[in-house]
Amino acid sequence: MAVDLGAARNGDAAFLHPHHDLAVELVALDRDLGRRYGAEVGADLDPATQILPVNGSREALFAFAQAVIDQTRHVKRVLSPNPFYQIYEGAALLGGTKPYFLNTLPENGFRMDFGTIPEDMWETVQLAYVCSPGNPTGKVMSLAEWKAVFELADRHDFIIASDECYSEIYFDGVPPPSILQVPGAREIAVEFTSMSKTYSMPGWRIGFAAGNKRLIDALARVKSYLDYGAFTPVQVAATARLLKMWSMAIVRMVATQNQIAA
Ligand SMILES: Cc1ncc(COP(=O)(O)O)c(C=O)c1O
Repeated sequence: MAVDLGAARNGDAAFLHPHHDLAVELVALDRDLGRRYGAEVGADLDPATQILPVNGSREALFAFAQAVIDQTRHVKRVLSPNPFYQIYEGAALLGGTKPYFLNTLPENGFRMDFGTIPEDMWETVQLAYVCSPGNPTGKVMSLAEWKAVFELADRHDFIIASDECYSEIYFDGVPPPSILQVPGAREIAVEFTSMSKTYSMPGWRIGFAAGNKRLIDALARVKSYLDYGAFTPVQVAATARLLKMWSMAIVRMVATQNQIAA
């Protein structure tokens, strides 16, 4: 893993990380992200070290590969669903690896069929992109499916980038599980969420990465070469948006309780 990038070469050179700003502290209050990162998910993430605001999840998904791929290994692979959000491919290629595509087909329920990966291929896999709900398939990873991927990740030593940018768009009243709900996720995974879809803020470039502390730190280091963190007013606007959703949720909850009491 390229996690030592940016470490002081001599003495005590300070290293600049992107802002951990207002939004990071408040993100856990959000109705939706609170559900993902708060009590319901049971993730109990430390906002200072395990949640990172990013300038859109696309950029972060790209930077993540650059942060975690071990360039010292000769043959390197990144797993990606196919069809896929194109940044996975670009991140793999520009990270000096080759993508290995798992076709997600109607006949297998649009699953990434990890069972088809040959044993010798596993030795080269360093990172897996998983998209849930999937774009363009809509396939949602169940907790059991996540657990199975974790077992593989344990066995074959790879990292998981879980693209959950459509996590708040669902139709049956049952929110898709977050990868962070699965025990052990915080050892090997980072979840990427986006303000673009749920909050109609695609041009604002704001989203969040959350999960393993060491991986979040590595992402922050690489990001500090690419950008200097989300523009503070955008973070403030995102926070306001999150808080609005949160307060609306409380109003709804109180109204429902009043109705029940009446
Ligand atoms: C699957 C998927 N992931 C990530 C993104 C990136 O979203 P953003 O960078 O706006 O957060 C998109 C955008 O279309 C997407 O479809």
